[in-house]
Amino acid sequence: MSHAYMPRSEKIWLAIGGFSLFVFLVVLGILAFGMGMNPPGHMRTIAPEAVHTTSPFQEPKLVQTGPNTYKATMVAQMFSFVPNELSIPVGSTVHFELTSPDVVHGLFIPNTNVNIMVIPGHITEFTYTFHSKGDYLILCHEYCGAGHHLMMGRLLVQ
Ligand code: CUA
Repeated sequence: MSHAYMPRSEKIWLAIGGFSLFVFLVVLGILAFGMGMNPPGHMRTIAPEAVHTTSPFQEPKLVQTGPNTYKATMVAQMFSFVPNELSIPVGSTVHFELTSPDVVHGLFIPNTNVNIMVIPGHITEFTYTFHSKGDYLILCHEYCGAGHHLMMGRLLVQ
């Protein structure tokens, strides 16, 4: 059997399809490698039932680690963040370190790139520099139960 006849319009659509796929992969590549939107890395683990008795999560808090750097150790639980209020000077880089003792939660700070998934059994880390002053909301953006909409905190960048 020789080559099947392919109408010109068919070839054009095939080219458009191939080009769309190419554009999609380029966009995906830019997001993944250029903007660092990767699945949570550093998969350190912790037993969910041991969260409240294991350092540093037994005493979650914000600590200054350098001239412009902070470490925020936080517990996301039904239905609050501990601590639920953080305050830092503008220009600070915050290294977040979170876990959950119960179900999957999220930590999302609108108007920033902070969008973290908090999975019981795992320690999720994320680093972000706050270049703009503001009174930011910290929201849970993974449905975690009846009090999900009440689960929020505050971040003051002064
Ligand atoms: Cu925690 Cu929704």
